[in-house]
Amino acid sequence: MAAVLAGLGGALPAGVVTNDDLCRELDSTHEWIETRTGISERRMVAAGQSTRDLAVEAGARALKSAGRSEVDAVVVATTSADRLCPAVAPEVAHQLGLGTVPAYDLTSACSGFLYGLASAVGHIASGVADRVLFIGAEAFTTMVNPGDRGTAPIFGDGAGAVVLRRGRPDEPGAVGPFDLGSDGSLADLLAIPAGGSRQRSATGGPGHEGVPAEDWFLHMEGRPLYVQAVERMTASSRAVLDRVGWSVPDVDVFAGHQANVRIVRAVAEELELPDDRVAVNIDRVGNTLAASIPLLLIDAVVRGRLNPGQRVLLSAFGAGLSWGSTALTWPDLSVEEVC
Ligand code: UT7
Repeated sequence: MAAVLAGLGGALPAGVVTNDDLCRELDSTHEWIETRTGISERRMVAAGQSTRDLAVEAGARALKSAGRSEVDAVVVATTSADRLCPAVAPEVAHQLGLGTVPAYDLTSACSGFLYGLASAVGHIASGVADRVLFIGAEAFTTMVNPGDRGTAPIFGDGAGAVVLRRGRPDEPGAVGPFDLGSDGSLADLLAIPAGGSRQRSATGGPGHEGVPAEDWFLHMEGRPLYVQAVERMTASSRAVLDRVGWSVPDVDVFAGHQANVRIVRAVAEELELPDDRVAVNIDRVGNTLAASIPLLLIDAVVRGRLNPGQRVLLSAFGAGLSWGSTALTWPDLSVEEVC
């Protein structure tokens, strides 16, 4: 028995923010951002629009792509849920008309898609569910200091969703073995210090004495993260290729988390994967954390870069630190372009 990819859908906020738009308020340039990250523009939620809204839209598209609206569970991976409590998934399930199915969030930042996919596969493998809707959804730009040039240009908002169904391991779309890992000794490299139980929200909001305003926003040490990202994604990709029994030339498409185009290219170089096998959409969406890989897969499908029967390697890395990889042979899916 296996979990098979049966549907895929995405959502992006309408608001396009170019590098030039950002640089009106930020001490940076389009050239710096494009050269150092590969990003030209990203989408940002409008006032009043939240992660839940994007998750519902992506979820609806994934259910449509799967051709059936029933599922037995909803899992949402997000690091920018609408509220600290409750999870966003029950509301998403409700708004999608899925009734009282089990629904929960998980938080694994940029590796959220891999961790969530593993959880969804686990529900099917354990017999808890026959069909699972799994959504990676983020409005993470709301958690980034718009005045911090080290982080503001990097992130974008969006959501990507998949439907998994019970199937056979030899079917196209059967999600392969996973490699997952973490290193909490480096947790401070990418963190939002305030708002949790350590710097308690009960002590006040932004600007409250004792909680510096910037602690409500993301803190990131880009350089060491970059090095970790390349090392971890490369090692994790190799581990999964070993488990699935593929060698590097067997990989038709490398769908790596879009944190920085230089990271993705560096991983591909370490793996000796040619550039034309590397999927890239960061130029248009930035780093969308848990939504990154499904949005990338949608982009690759609608551009004709990813076709049924092709072998796909997925790999991600993010805060935690955490990382993960898996592989699958692409199934025949009808996928709508996300505009
Ligand atoms: O999603 C998973 C987790 N996140 C990541 O994996 C992020 C990994 N890191 C990165 O992608 C890169 O480190 C960044 C894109 C964040 C930064 O690029 P970098 O090439 O590592 O730049 P840097 O931080 O080493 O900074 C180089 C220079 C510095 O100036 P000096 O000290 O050399 O004079 C920065 O102050 O670039 C400066 N700088 C900028 N200049 C213009 C940093 N950000 C900007 C900016 N515009 N936005």
